[in-house]
Amino acid sequence: MNAHLGRATAVVAVSAITLTLTACGGAEDADGRPGSGKGHAIKVGLLLPENQTARYEKFDKPLIEKEVAALTRGKGEVVYANAKQDAATQNSQVDTMITNKVDVLIIDAVDAKAIAGAVKRAKDAGIPVVAYDRLAEGPIDAYTSFDNEDVGKVQGKALLDALGDKAKDGQIVMMNGSVTDPNAKLFKSGAHFVLDGKVNIGKEYDTVEWKPENANTNMAAALSALGKSKIVGVYSANDGMAGGIITALKAAGLSTLPPVTGQDAELAGVQRIVAGEQFMTVYKPYAPEAAAAAEMAVALAQGEKIDGVINQMVDSPTTKGVPSVLIPGVALTKANVKSTVVDDGVYTVDEICTDKYRAACEEIGLK
Ligand code: GAL
Repeated sequence: MNAHLGRATAVVAVSAITLTLTACGGAEDADGRPGSGKGHAIKVGLLLPENQTARYEKFDKPLIEKEVAALTRGKGEVVYANAKQDAATQNSQVDTMITNKVDVLIIDAVDAKAIAGAVKRAKDAGIPVVAYDRLAEGPIDAYTSFDNEDVGKVQGKALLDALGDKAKDGQIVMMNGSVTDPNAKLFKSGAHFVLDGKVNIGKEYDTVEWKPENANTNMAAALSALGKSKIVGVYSANDGMAGGIITALKAAGLSTLPPVTGQDAELAGVQRIVAGEQFMTVYKPYAPEAAAAAEMAVALAQGEKIDGVINQMVDSPTTKGVPSVLIPGVALTKANVKSTVVDDGVYTVDEICTDKYRAACEEIGLK
């Protein structure tokens, strides 16, 4: 799964998305239903997994809505549901959308296996399914995500760089994501690929539901099992959990925090990086991912081909050769806050550099 994606390929794919974005649209069919090559009143069902990680409500949802509107000249409607981390809820949300006759579904699964039956029911009802960010099982038509194994490698490499010579003597703690999320498995295997044999892994956890409070509890357990002076670094699969981990490290009375990794470039994560509390995050530009999902969804709803958008084929445990768009993630440290999230317009300097962080921002020349 997930053949390695070169940066050049991704750039080509992303620009292909931008190009074709403007090429769609047109007159509406008499019945207002999708048909080949025209702009229509399309109903896109969007299902996101949870609302604790900031990305979903702050970026993915509004970005997909904007792209669908652009592709359909304002005639596309996005019907939205957030499963709040509950797989059963998400299954019934799919059924509601089937009943409401959406033309296409974009699903970011809470649990990639548990959603397979709902994907099949949608297909049986003639509704194509685009798997968003997480590779849902069942007969999906298309998939878009980041190169998730590479995200794990980027995190692992950054942690080794930060550890330098300390990698030899100390131990690290690994805080992986939820076992129901296929991405968590890929982040974990990418990180192990880089870390194994280079540093001792004292404790490792698969964190239930990606919850920061569960990461906090796990970290507190690791601190008492290993001893706070023995932990030289923490691999955290995302920023939400990094927040819980850093709270546990501070509560244990550590004066100097070990390097902690993350993912998602959440505002709180970026602020902790500026302040020197978190070492890095993985910045994943959500705009191209959202654009790819919207473009494939609108095309599928209109019965059009998506060959021009995809950059590789991916196998899921149930479905071989899923047409996919995979996008690379980028390591974000103190050194490149400006050239990543600020220059891309994700956050303004004012949003990052609030009173609490002003001095730290000045120190790294962020103004
Ligand atoms: C992953 C996703 C990450 C993060 C995490 C926590 O599947 O790729 O960006 O959101 O879930 O929900």
